[in-house]
Amino acid sequence: MTVSSDDQFVGAIDQGTSSTRFLIFNLKTQQIVASKQIEITQNFPQEGWVEECPDEILESCIHCIDATATIFAELGLSTDQLKCIGITNQRETTIVWDPNTGKALHNAIVWCDSRASETVDKLIAKAPGGKDAFRDKCGLPIAQYFSALKIRWLMDNFPDIAQKLTSGEAMVGTVDSWLVWKMTNQHVTDVTNASRTMLFNINTLSWDQELCDFFGIPMSCLPRVCSSAEEYGTLSLSGFAGTPISGILGDQQAALVGQGCLRPGTAKNTYGTGCFLLQNTGEKPVQSQCGLLTTVAYQLGKDAPAHFALEGSIAAAGSVIRWLRDNLGLIKTSSDAEALASQVPDSGSFVFVPAFNGLFAPRWRPDARGTMTGITQFTTKQHIVFGALESCCFQTRDLFDAIAQESGSMPLSMLRVDGGMTSNKLLLQRQADLLQVPVERPQMSETTALGAAMAAAVGSGILDKDEISNLSPVERFDPVLSENDVSRRMHMWHCAVEKSLNSV
Ligand code: G3P
Repeated sequence: MTVSSDDQFVGAIDQGTSSTRFLIFNLKTQQIVASKQIEITQNFPQEGWVEECPDEILESCIHCIDATATIFAELGLSTDQLKCIGITNQRETTIVWDPNTGKALHNAIVWCDSRASETVDKLIAKAPGGKDAFRDKCGLPIAQYFSALKIRWLMDNFPDIAQKLTSGEAMVGTVDSWLVWKMTNQHVTDVTNASRTMLFNINTLSWDQELCDFFGIPMSCLPRVCSSAEEYGTLSLSGFAGTPISGILGDQQAALVGQGCLRPGTAKNTYGTGCFLLQNTGEKPVQSQCGLLTTVAYQLGKDAPAHFALEGSIAAAGSVIRWLRDNLGLIKTSSDAEALASQVPDSGSFVFVPAFNGLFAPRWRPDARGTMTGITQFTTKQHIVFGALESCCFQTRDLFDAIAQESGSMPLSMLRVDGGMTSNKLLLQRQADLLQVPVERPQMSETTALGAAMAAAVGSGILDKDEISNLSPVERFDPVLSENDVSRRMHMWHCAVEKSLNSV
């Protein structure tokens, strides 16, 4: 890698559910010149609850930025060559804080936390039209996944938080807002993160009074909504203090941009803690008939049009591998999963539905529970690990079929993939087999961070949005399993899903 004192660089904070990264890209070559990643502690105080510490989230970002700044300096580069920083983040995860003390009033309630499921039931009963009552406005069904339900739960269970949010003594936001507020003192979010709250009208691109009233959340405590590419403020902390923050995108939308899926019909699937398949549908929101979400994909500039996507969300992907490591001790590191699974041709009759926090798209069943079926005396830990990996592929196939059925979408003849799990070749081969179409993995695996960096470069005026290019594929996986075998395995999967839906 050669770098020079004339080169321009762009940074990206990628604050995901499982880890935080800071990466610096060379603007011209899109290559990573320095990076640092650290794992985030997840707390599970009760069954179905998932929390993270807001201060740890912030400190992990500062730590990664500082460590990267040191590498950057060691390369002989000067801090003013870093032109801007983008932020991309785990979406929906909700933080409430007191702006006077700067302290969070509760742990972050993470997107996959299912504590608000009773709140969901009550609100669905009250909503005119049931769970899809507000799809036209916000593109989402009423589900505990979205921030409004988490805020409502906090207000119902902590009267002091409710009082502070109502009286203007507290602020609420997703992780991007928490970080930007801590780093610049501005209370802002971008359209993509706002579109995951259930309080945001995706047609008018603004907070919606009817939705705020329905959930009983004062609009005044919400951040100002900005585009995904503009200057929000300058970094006040760390080795790169003074650098503008000029891009914000939810992590799945950032991966869409990073993969260069800017044309309607293009799509990507990101295998992170969860797994998220997004298809760009252009400048008009397409309402789903098949259990997908309609979401803002990006708005690259204050005056630029918003683009939309259909999204299939899977709650558990990488988290299943983490569970094999932390709860069952079947593997020591995530990378062991491929080696173990490769020791068997498949999982035999064993099927694993990892509905740890219910099932998301296309079923939206918070009451589903994790289920293992088809266990015989022959079943080994290798089969279990294979089954865990295959569960991501089965779920993706369900989303793929849902996209094919949507009248407003375009069927996919291949799948572009990215995310931490895609270093696992067995997973990608299995994915191609179960989809019966090729799967392509790009050269740049850090597409999420790259998307945020590109948005920041556009927001700072050093890149035109038309210059965001397609990533050239490096590796392609073609299906080899016969259609019969695929149908048989999909049948086994759907039988197991039925059990998972009826397990409590
Ligand atoms: O909607 C949740 C999603 O943004 C989480 O992403 O990468 O942490 O699985 P990830």
